[in-house]
Amino acid sequence: MDAITCSMYIFIFYLSHLQQTAVADNSSYIPSENIVLNCGSNTSEFVEYDGRNWNGDIASPYVPSNADTKSLIVRAPNTRQTIPEVPYMTARIFKSEFSYTFNVTPGPKFIRLHFYPASYLQLNISNAFLSVSASNFTLLRNFSVSLNADYLNLAYFMKEFIVHVSESVLELTFAPSYNASDAYAFVNGIEVVSMPLDLYIQGDYAPLPLVDHSNVVYIYNGSAMENFYRLNVGGEQIPPKYDTGMFRTWDTDEVYILGSNIGIQPSNISMPVLYADKAPPYSAPADVYRTSRSMSPFENGLVNLNYNLTWFFPVDSGFLYLVRLHFCEIDHDITKINQVVFTVFLNNQTAEEQFDLIAWSGGPGVAVHRDYVVMVPQVIEGKQDLWLDLHPYKDSKPMYYNAFLNGVEIFKLSNVGDKNLAGLNPPKSFKSGSDVKAPRVAKFNRSSKKLKFILIGCGLGAVVLPILLCLVLFGLKVIRPRRVMSWCGLAVHTPNQIEKSKSSFCLHTPNQSEKSKSSFCRHFSMREMKVATNDFNETLLVGTGGFGNVYKGSFDGGATYVAIKRANPMSEQGASEFETEILWLSQLRHNNLVSLLGYCNEDGEMILVYDFMANGTLYDHLHLRNRDQDHHPLSWIQRLEICIGVARGLHYLHTGTKHKVIHRDIKTTNILLNHNWVPKISDFGLSKEGYPSLVTTNVKGSIGYLDPACYQSHKLTEKSDLYSLGVVLLEVLSARPAVSQCEDDEHVNLAEWAMLCFENGCGEQIVDPNLEGNIVKECFEL
Ligand SMILES: *[C@@H]1O[C@H](CO)[C@@H](O)[C@H](O)[C@H]1NC(C)=O
Ligand SMILES: *[C@@H]1O[C@H](CO)[C@@H](O)[C@H](O)[C@H]1NC(C)=O
Ligand SMILES: *[C@@H]1O[C@H](CO)[C@@H](O)[C@H](O)[C@H]1NC(C)=O
Ligand SMILES: *[C@@H]1O[C@H](CO)[C@@H](O)[C@H](O)[C@H]1NC(C)=O
Ligand SMILES: *[C@@H]1O[C@H](CO)[C@@H](O)[C@H](O)[C@H]1NC(C)=O
Ligand SMILES: *[C@@H]1O[C@H](CO)[C@@H](O)[C@H](O)[C@H]1NC(C)=O
Ligand SMILES: *[C@@H]1O[C@H](CO)[C@@H](O)[C@H](O)[C@H]1NC(C)=O
Ligand SMILES: *[C@@H]1O[C@H](CO)[C@@H](O)[C@H](O)[C@H]1NC(C)=O
Ligand SMILES: *[C@@H]1O[C@H](CO)[C@@H](O)[C@H](O)[C@H]1NC(C)=O
Ligand SMILES: *[C@@H]1O[C@H](CO)[C@@H](O)[C@H](O)[C@H]1NC(C)=O
Repeated sequence: MDAITCSMYIFIFYLSHLQQTAVADNSSYIPSENIVLNCGSNTSEFVEYDGRNWNGDIASPYVPSNADTKSLIVRAPNTRQTIPEVPYMTARIFKSEFSYTFNVTPGPKFIRLHFYPASYLQLNISNAFLSVSASNFTLLRNFSVSLNADYLNLAYFMKEFIVHVSESVLELTFAPSYNASDAYAFVNGIEVVSMPLDLYIQGDYAPLPLVDHSNVVYIYNGSAMENFYRLNVGGEQIPPKYDTGMFRTWDTDEVYILGSNIGIQPSNISMPVLYADKAPPYSAPADVYRTSRSMSPFENGLVNLNYNLTWFFPVDSGFLYLVRLHFCEIDHDITKINQVVFTVFLNNQTAEEQFDLIAWSGGPGVAVHRDYVVMVPQVIEGKQDLWLDLHPYKDSKPMYYNAFLNGVEIFKLSNVGDKNLAGLNPPKSFKSGSDVKAPRVAKFNRSSKKLKFILIGCGLGAVVLPILLCLVLFGLKVIRPRRVMSWCGLAVHTPNQIEKSKSSFCLHTPNQSEKSKSSFCRHFSMREMKVATNDFNETLLVGTGGFGNVYKGSFDGGATYVAIKRANPMSEQGASEFETEILWLSQLRHNNLVSLLGYCNEDGEMILVYDFMANGTLYDHLHLRNRDQDHHPLSWIQRLEICIGVARGLHYLHTGTKHKVIHRDIKTTNILLNHNWVPKISDFGLSKEGYPSLVTTNVKGSIGYLDPACYQSHKLTEKSDLYSLGVVLLEVLSARPAVSQCEDDEHVNLAEWAMLCFENGCGEQIVDPNLEGNIVKECFEL
């Protein structure tokens, strides 16, 4: 057999093997028990959201015959919020121990408890501390529904447990946690749904390695679990009725991503998902596998070596957690081993050093899940964050430096000794007690939408930077115009001249761009915007411009500040800039580019939400300080660092993306400084994708920064940005505006003037007097 026949044979064997084990993506599980109880109700109602009939528990076979004497049937008082009628508007209240008894088949069951904290019968909800047990497992103990709702910032929520039933009866017991006349417990809804035996427990009880320990952990039918997170990474929320028959909810992941480095969200909606033995068809809906989040695909991902793709999940201390990661290769060009390899870290420890999905799955479109157990020690009481980091594995020299994830599930495991799953209540939040609190109302969605935007630093190696700076300075010199034109003749952009073309702004094909726009950044509601800005209060105004007003907004009662840019409805440029800004900023991620957190387009408004830049614009620090005593002149080191940061950001725009991006409006008012003085390039309203020889009929930019070469040739290249950057550097050095007016009303173009000075060998003349003595003489020998 020659080599070709041999490899053909292996290929055919591989294909047939794949067909044997992989099945179509729609064979979902049919649960043997699917009990859905609307507590405190006597009717049966269909709920569209989860596609099931919820039966009232009154006169149901699950409550004891003397239920009336042991519990109270109550209705929640009406509120201004719209709370779903089923199951949240009715409840059963327990003043003493009360058990529901379900006759079920033996095996693992989901137990889901639904809670809506309200003042039932004028009882004080702060006194409701619940203990709940099932099959001798403590599910909840001293559990305060109201403290947990405050912590999650949700009006109502659900808790999901998994318990193994050995006999054919499941007893679910509720009780108040302490003995006092005002103590009580309650529940609004109960679900008991069965699941395949091997969904979360491997049939052969294979031990799972404990991350960062030599021990292994057996997850067997004697363990109970509580689901903390179940996320469709990079995709939309999947409601219970679209789960694989077990009515699980899959939430979006974006609120759990650390920092602004959220990666990109590749998806292939038409892709058939092949389920093999590494993920049976009921593991997760196909849509979980069809969407993902990955690092930057540009330049084979070299820049990714500087980052981690990081999520963090608040969990209870002192428990083991089962972390299940779902993977599926969406990119059909990735078919071989060692094309993408990455390391999985859990809580900063290596969980899997070299994860190569193709080696696991055999090819694109094949679903796989991997389980890890991690210990979250009791170093602090209460909640702490469980970290998940993905990082390209450099040592195997893969073809692309990338990492990705399609789905994640996190479960708390019961303590073996005392069969306990109960953690501590979250601390009383600062907000509770005040009347302004308006909990978010979400459909069965219990994910913590706490906004935690933490910036993480990242960047190019230190070696590259001096070179870059030199290049930029050199660039300015090289493209310096021979004949200096008067700036007066240049076309200058005025607000109503902005062109309306949008299609050329998309890096994606047009039909994808619509989707990417909606899924890449978060959509905020108008109400959230009003709360954050105190109804667009004038006192929070931090800037105004052609686009509209910029407000300093706050979330979480001042824990997080954001800049909220609200388009002036009168501004014609608004709609186009709004679109362009979202399109660009949702695809570009760099420490030196301003990060767009989301947008709001309700009520005909156009609002953009950015990270708040505490130190304002570079322009303010260079030019306004003379008028404002609060501004101290920037030191030479600060200025250099700012210039290096801007150069990095620009370098990323020009080389770090698939298609070159030309900013076209680099100037000191568009360079923002955060609280650490890290510069961020902003305002992408004029940006364009740079084709090799893009000819533009419409030269735009700002006076004083516009490259005369571009103006003459009408050719748009990244050199135009470099010219503008050169002007910014001169501005930083001299603290003079790009265009200034002298006494005799003549306009002085800074670039022109500085070049003259350098040519005459008196470059020092332009230096900001505040910097005198700080710069060594050699620096001026260009
Ligand atoms: C499942 O897939 C098969 C073939 O792929 C199709 O005929 C059938 O209608 C699908 N069933 C559902 C419920 O989507
Ligand atoms: C359900 O309860 C309500 C109020 O308790 C009562 O008016 C109604 O008759 C009951 N309906 C049935 C079918 O039992
Ligand atoms: C409910 O109880 C808490 C603490 O026990 C108390 O601070 C609060 O004022 C009470 N609320 C009402 C409405 O009585
Ligand atoms: C719970 O524990 C008691 C006593 O230890 C035992 O008799 C009972 O069978 C257990 N129940 C279940 C469902 O395991
Ligand atoms: C766990 O599995 C063992 C062996 O299959 C069985 O004997 C036992 O009854 C099971 N226990 C539960 C709680 O399901
Ligand atoms: C409450 O008191 C009763 C009777 O004294 C006792 O049986 C029960 O265990 C007590 N419950 C708690 C949570 O202390
Ligand atoms: C999407 O899935 C289809 C069907 O498997 C495949 O042919 C196509 O190449 C995939 N698209 C990409 C971009 O990988
Ligand atoms: C993991 O690293 C991050 C960032 O350095 C740190 O904030 C976090 O506390 C660490 N987590 C653990 C569990 O050590
Ligand atoms: C990625 O995360 C791991 C684990 O926390 C950490 O050791 C490593 O330094 C991180 N790498 C980068 C580039 O941040
Ligand atoms: C119950 O929870 C409350 C609120 O977190 C706490 O103050 C109290 O000490 C807890 N009680 C017990 C017995 O753990």
